[in-house]
Amino acid sequence: MFKQSLIFSLLVLAALSCGSKENKSAPVTVEKAKPAKDGAKIFKQSCELCHGPDGKLGANGSKDLSASELDLDARIAMVTKGKGLMTPFENILSLEEIKAVAEFSMTLNATK
Ligand code: HEC
Repeated sequence: MFKQSLIFSLLVLAALSCGSKENKSAPVTVEKAKPAKDGAKIFKQSCELCHGPDGKLGANGSKDLSASELDLDARIAMVTKGKGLMTPFENILSLEEIKAVAEFSMTLNATK
């Protein structure tokens, strides 16, 4: 009785390990890095809290982005390093994401 079940479990184990070998040899699909360029999405996640959806909220003393005169480079620097109560995003977002969200913030600008 015991012997039989032992053999049975060995068979199951053998079958299982066969299966996993098959899995290993299956072609590995490399997922492409997601294009992290959706500035609007990043803005929603990382900036709206203080700046609001239209950039005008001004929470936590944040500046009205729709009235900002800063150019793209200055915004990238701003987002990277932060200022005052604004969070530095250099360890939170990638350079690409920072660029994308800075570009998006330009679109909120009513004066340009
Ligand atoms: C924790 C709140 C907070 C978050 C989150 C935040 N900001 Fe700010 N932001 C501020 C504050 C406060 C200032 C004003 C800093 C100062 O000049 O003292 C500011 C200023 C700015 C300015 C400069 C505006 C100007 O004309 O001087 C830009 C551009 C900006 N933020 C963009 C962003 C972007 C883009 C994000 C998202 C990646 C973001 N901020 C997230 C609080 C925040």
